[in-house]
Amino acid sequence: MEMLTVQGGAPLRGDVYVDGAKNAALPIMAASILLNGDVRINRVPDLVDVQTMSLLLQSLGATVRHSDDILQIDTRRINLHHADYELVCRMRASVCVLGPLLARFGRASVSLPGGCNIGHRPIDLHLKGLAALGADLRIERGYVIAEATQLQGADIFLGGPGGSTVTGTCNVMTAACLAKGRTAIRAAACEPEVVDLARFLNAAGARISGPGTSIIEIDGVDELTSVSHTVVPDRIEAATFAIAATATRGSISIHNAQPEHMTSVLDALRAIGATISVTPNQIDISTAGPLNGVELAALPFPGIPTDTQAQFMALLATVPGVSVVTDRVFPDRFMHVSELLRMGARIRREGASVVIDGGSQLTGTRVMASDLRASAALVIAALAANGESQIRRTYHLDRGYTQLDQKLNGLGAKVLRREDNSPSPGGPHYLQKDSTVRNTSEQSFD
Ligand code: EPU
Repeated sequence: MEMLTVQGGAPLRGDVYVDGAKNAALPIMAASILLNGDVRINRVPDLVDVQTMSLLLQSLGATVRHSDDILQIDTRRINLHHADYELVCRMRASVCVLGPLLARFGRASVSLPGGCNIGHRPIDLHLKGLAALGADLRIERGYVIAEATQLQGADIFLGGPGGSTVTGTCNVMTAACLAKGRTAIRAAACEPEVVDLARFLNAAGARISGPGTSIIEIDGVDELTSVSHTVVPDRIEAATFAIAATATRGSISIHNAQPEHMTSVLDALRAIGATISVTPNQIDISTAGPLNGVELAALPFPGIPTDTQAQFMALLATVPGVSVVTDRVFPDRFMHVSELLRMGARIRREGASVVIDGGSQLTGTRVMASDLRASAALVIAALAANGESQIRRTYHLDRGYTQLDQKLNGLGAKVLRREDNSPSPGGPHYLQKDSTVRNTSEQSFD
C-alpha cells in the first residue's frame, strides 16, 4: 500500500491542467455496451476506476485498449450479461452496466454494490426506472436479475428523498435509447456528466432531448452505431485545485477547465474571499485579501457538489470565523471530520450539519483516508498545515485523481509518494465504529 508525505506551508503557485471527468467517463464506458461496434473515447483519465470499468467490460467480452488518454472499446464480442460481485464491489459505478446490458441483450445480472463509506446508497430508483420501461426485476443471492423481451418507452418520475440520481438517470436514459417509443424522465439529474453521456449517445444515433434539465425525453431507436467522443473536463478535479490554492493562500491558473460547470463552487470561493477570473476554459484564482467563514450546503447540480464538500471543509478549518457545512445529497458524508480534528481543526457535528470554528493553524500528523474526496480534503489540510503529514491509504485518491501528487508538486507543493510499511490497524481487517469487522477489500467504493 502507498502513502503520501506532505510538507505543508507552501502556497500553490503556477499552472495546472485538468483531465477528463471520471464521473462522465465511467457511465459512457458502460453505455458503450449498447453499441455493436467501435467506440473511441478521448480525454479519458488514467485512473483506477477507469481500469476497473475496463476490466468489467472485458469480463463481458469487450476488447478495451487505453493508450495515453484515448480509450478504444470493441463491443462486438460481448456475450455475457453478468457483472460479478468481485468487480462491482470495487466500484459502485459498475451498476451503470445494468441498463445497457438489459437494453441490448434483454437480460442482465448485476451484483448489488453493497455498503459504502459515504453513507446509505440504495439503487431503488435505478430499478424503479427500469421496471417502468417494462423490465422484470428480482434480487437473487445479492444480484439484480433484469429481463425484458422489448423495453417500452414510459413516463418516469425518478426523484427520491435525496433529490435526483446521477447514475440512476444514466442507467434509465441509456436503456431507454433502445426502447420502443418515447420515454420521459422527470426529476432527472442535471449534472454535466449526464449531459456528456447524452451527447455521446446522440453522436451514436440516439434521440435524446433535454439533458441538463429536469425532464429528459428519449425517442427509442433500433440500434446505435460506432462513435467517437471527447469527455467533458473534470469539474471536481478543477474545484479541488481551486480550493487547495485558496487553502494555501496561493495563486494558480487552472487550464482545460469548464468554469460554467462550476459557478456554485466559484461563487462560494469568492464569498470566502478568493479573487477569481474565468475565460471559457481557464480559471485564475488568488487570495490576496483576508478570508472569512461561510455557510454552504452541498446540493444536486447546479448547487455545490457533494464531491467538493470535504475539500471545502478542510479549507474552512483554516479560515477565520464560523462556517456551517451541510450535505443534502449524502447527509452522512462526514468521515473526514475525525481526521481533520486530528490535524487541529475545530469542527463539531450538529444534526445534519457540521459547524467549523475556523482559523486554526493545522498541524501535520498521520491521517487515514476513508474515501476518494475525504482523501482530497486531507491532502488540502496537509498542504495548509505546519510540518509534515502522512496520508495513508492513497489508493482512494488514485481512484479519482490522475497523478494528484505530481500535479501539486508542479504547483510548488512538497508531496512524496512512498510505500507505507507501517502495519495497518488490525491488518486487512479492521474494526469499524459500529464494532463490526469489515474486510477493506470487500468494501464498495464511491
Ligand atoms: N439515491 C436513492 N436511490 C437511488 C439512487 C440514489 O435514494 O436509487 C439517493 C442517494 O442515496 C443520494 C442521492 O440519491 O442521497 C444522490 O445519489 P446519486 O444516485 O446521484 O449518486 P450516484 O449516482 O451513486 C454519483 C457520483 C458520485 C457523486 C453523486 C452525487 C458517479 C460514478 N458517482 O453517484 O461521485 O457523489 O453522484 O453527485 O457518477 C465521487 O466521485 O467521489 C462520487 C462519490
